[in-house]
Amino acid sequence: MNAVEVSELTVRFDSFTAVDRITFAVGVGEIFGFLGANGAGKTTTIRVLTGLLSPTEGRVRVAGRSFADGARTIKSRVGYMSQRFTLYDDLTVSENLAFTSGLRKIPPAVSAERIQRLLRFVGFNHSPSALVRDLPGGLKQDVSLVAALLHDPDIVFLDEPTAGVSPAARSKFWALIRGLAREGKTIFVTTHHMDEAEECGRIALMRAGRIIALDSPAELKAQSFPDPLLEIEWTAGAPAGWRESLLERGAASVVPYGLHHHVMVNNRAAWDRFVGEHTGRLTVRTIAPSLEDVFIRLVEGADR
Ligand SMILES: Nc1ncnc2c1ncn2[C@@H]1O[C@H](COP(=O)(O)OP(=O)(O)OP(=O)(O)O)[C@@H](O)[C@H]1O
Ligand SMILES: [Mg+2]
Repeated sequence: MNAVEVSELTVRFDSFTAVDRITFAVGVGEIFGFLGANGAGKTTTIRVLTGLLSPTEGRVRVAGRSFADGARTIKSRVGYMSQRFTLYDDLTVSENLAFTSGLRKIPPAVSAERIQRLLRFVGFNHSPSALVRDLPGGLKQDVSLVAALLHDPDIVFLDEPTAGVSPAARSKFWALIRGLAREGKTIFVTTHHMDEAEECGRIALMRAGRIIALDSPAELKAQSFPDPLLEIEWTAGAPAGWRESLLERGAASVVPYGLHHHVMVNNRAAWDRFVGEHTGRLTVRTIAPSLEDVFIRLVEGADR
């Protein structure tokens, strides 16, 4: 059985189409990444999958049910950490978690034990009587995750859970995500960090409301870069107009990358001529494409 099934889902706000006929499924226990530029439609999709928003068209099933006949069951099996920070700043960690337990109708005895277990799980070593306002960003995210897990959901939606936290806190957070997946939970996560996307079993790339690619990171790289990807560096300064000249000849797509450029060769003969014309000024090495290369190529458009 799939944890999530989406068929021809469309969401319109007035005449604006935020999600445009997307179809996909997420298997039980997957870490499924949802990627796309700002405004691509990721949060809107998650709001539909958590029952906060009704589709304009199309069907969704979550935990084997549709919202029409099983909203209560779905909500009991789904956890949601929203993109906006949802804890109360002026309540303590304990008060926030007790409040969420109350909303979730978790009996106090069960909730006390769970809160302790989950705070241990996320490695929370701060005082539970600290005001949330006074916690560093990474710890707030940890407490938000605990709040999303209090009712022991099978499917966890994490909308940019690591936005604005330090690299160390991000990497720790992903260790938690992997731990949840090992327990058999399904993780549906959005991120703008490509190193995090690498951690996903499969990723969907969204652009302007549509899913434009969906596969494992390795497959996406293989499919997006059928030809070798080269990293080039001008060792004695780049000649004026070289990119335009390369693009005009149809030789390659070129993307600036720090001090280098990443080049995908589309026309071997034209590329070889180009390299020949610049012998001694250009170093070229073949590199493995990263997900960032894939993202730039597919989501932001190939030739910049
Ligand atoms: N309630 C709403 N009314 C009108 N437009 C909306 C509403 N919610 C979202 N939108 C629009 O729909 C589009 C998709 O928004 P969404 O929040 O799903 O994007 P996103 O992929 O989550 O982006 P981000 O990476 O910035 O979080 C955006 O253009 C947004 O402005
Ligand atoms: Mg969003």
